Amino acid sequence: MLNRWQSEPVLNAGALDQLVYQSRMVGEEESLVLWGGGNNSVKQPAVDLLGQPIEVMYIKGSGSDMKSIIPAQYPAVRLDYVLPLFEREEMSDEDMVAYLARCLIDPTSPRPSIETLLHAFLPHRAILHTHTDAILSLTNTVGREETVRECFGDRVVLVPYYLPGFKLSKQVGLLAAQHPEAEALILMNHGLITWGNDSQEAYDNHIRLVTEAEDFVKSKRQVQAQVQAQAQAAPSTPAIEPEAVAPILRGLLSTEKPWILGFDNSPEVMQFLSRPDLHTITQVGPATPDHMLYTKRFPLVVELTDPNPEQVHSQFAEALNKYTTAYRQYFSLNAKAGAVMLDALPRIVLVPGVGMWTLGKDARAARIVTDIYRHTMNIIADAQTLGGFATLSDENAFNAEYWPLELYKLTLLPKEKDLARRIVLVTGAASGIGRAIARRLAEEGAHVVVTDLNGEGAETVAAEIRQKQGLNRAIGLKLDVTNLEQVEEAFKAACRAYGGLDILVSNAGIAPVGAIDRLSQRDWDMSLAINTTGHFLVTRASLNILKKQSIGGSLIYNATKNVTAPGKDFGAYSVAKAAEAQLCRIVAIEGGEFGIRANMLNPDAIFEGSQLWSEDLKNKRANAYGISVEELPNFYRQRNLLKVEVTAEDVAEAALFLAGPRAAKTTGAMIPVDGGVKEAFPR
Ligand code: NAI
Repeated sequence: MLNRWQSEPVLNAGALDQLVYQSRMVGEEESLVLWGGGNNSVKQPAVDLLGQPIEVMYIKGSGSDMKSIIPAQYPAVRLDYVLPLFEREEMSDEDMVAYLARCLIDPTSPRPSIETLLHAFLPHRAILHTHTDAILSLTNTVGREETVRECFGDRVVLVPYYLPGFKLSKQVGLLAAQHPEAEALILMNHGLITWGNDSQEAYDNHIRLVTEAEDFVKSKRQVQAQVQAQAQAAPSTPAIEPEAVAPILRGLLSTEKPWILGFDNSPEVMQFLSRPDLHTITQVGPATPDHMLYTKRFPLVVELTDPNPEQVHSQFAEALNKYTTAYRQYFSLNAKAGAVMLDALPRIVLVPGVGMWTLGKDARAARIVTDIYRHTMNIIADAQTLGGFATLSDENAFNAEYWPLELYKLTLLPKEKDLARRIVLVTGAASGIGRAIARRLAEEGAHVVVTDLNGEGAETVAAEIRQKQGLNRAIGLKLDVTNLEQVEEAFKAACRAYGGLDILVSNAGIAPVGAIDRLSQRDWDMSLAINTTGHFLVTRASLNILKKQSIGGSLIYNATKNVTAPGKDFGAYSVAKAAEAQLCRIVAIEGGEFGIRANMLNPDAIFEGSQLWSEDLKNKRANAYGISVEELPNFYRQRNLLKVEVTAEDVAEAALFLAGPRAAKTTGAMIPVDGGVKEAFPR
């Protein structure tokens, strides 16, 4: 493994800055720690409130991520308060957390890592602990002690498996005291601990030992090469398109609450999925206990033999049913009285020949599961070459999954937003109303497929959403709604990125102007192509996905006030938009039995941010009303009952209502967003 330490950035830096630098170097290396895993510390002289000299330990805050950590995420604890705990025989997690909270130098600092005592009970100044892949490959084997000894001899101390907490910390302290000459501690099924006089030394020692473990594993890989050779000879599965089956899977998983699905069919994943021993090696357990929170104990493995959607549905359903039944049994065998079962669903679905799906409450969570399992695949493959992958017992796995501290954290999570776990596709979203809707729905938790004829503009809006709302929360795509091929591609992209679709906002539109006798056929055709047929094409594609999912859905059509009150010179526009409105009603009629709602918005006169109001259109509308272009905004304001200017954000609020649960019982409706135009009242 590459030693990334460079002296320059931390030359003359204090102990805390060096610790932060070490953390970042560790975080850079995914095979050392992933997403919040690992922790490090340094012990330092300091003074207390009264100016008395004391010893403190800076320790990583619970849950913070090593690759992006900052000094404020390192609480300092008083060692003169912490060290006497070593004399105790036991201490519950809750008592330990409460006690540590009172050892903080700054009571407002984040909660110190659950492994704080482990660091404190080691006599060394700087400590580094990771869940590195190579060490997990050695310790997750059938003959784990012999395997580790074969690699490191007596230079390291082996610590039997315990869930992180007081017991593990005390064992670590005792064993380290008994073996002062040891170079490191190896925690069975868990990870590696190294130390040094400063953070650089602890890091150097860590990388040196990890490199030794990696070299050892490499030398044993011949057996794996044979397994792979057999795998390549395995018969290929029929062509099954992941985008076509993802909504079926998502629907089956989402009967209680919807999930966002990540997907990975990279060559490494496909190779792992083609292993002849896939069904056994994936059903052993997690590589380390803290993965359980993300990955559950085992993935679901499903062999799809037929691309026919009904077959796919029944094969997924049957496999899922077996999985959840087995999970319920595991819970009832291991749970203590009064325990409440978490959901029984897998977080990883492996389909040989097709790929790996991962479940998350959002795209970030799904991505964490993907990353963890990609590393687990390597660990499993290597452990197989070292005598066979073996990990936590049923009881240990259960205690890791139902660890009260983690369950408590779940109760502290904020209430999910209205559109959390939902996937929306918006057309014409590079500007104006579509853009405002994409932003607003994203703010309320939705994952957004931002599409537009202007692909670059769509990507700009998606990038802005990702920046504000988080990892992978939006993708941007070029989509001309009149182009069938592009429509199909865009909906496939939604299924690839998130697993399906819940909401369509059919918004793209143009507004050609001209009296009927002077209207060119080109303008007429174009208006019908975009303002009618475009809505039909994206509707059809949406319904195909929504019906496969069978968990309902919401379609929103951005029509216009002209549907009920057409305007002079707006023939091509008003006729096409009336057809859009009728399409919406038919979708409401046909979609009802599937829980699919369809509603429309009728906005009027939105200038700000809209490109629809080209100079040409403004001139022509001003002419039609016999006023100047400058007078237009005021003209429209005076025309409505509330005498207000209507904005794209106003339309976005109405779209949000129709998209989410607050409109759960509304379908076939028309909502004007026009300040009140009495000629346009829906009748
Ligand atoms: P806009 O021109 O700012 O946005 C429309 C977007 O649709 C543009 O980004 C454009 O690139 C895109 N687009 C055009 N043709 C497309 C195609 N073939 N495929 C995909 N995307 C395409 O206009 P605005 O004002 O945001 O309009 C959005 C919708 O709102 C339209 O359907 C319009 O009819 C409707 N509307 C607008 C009103 C207004 O006063 N601005 C009033 C009533 C309805």
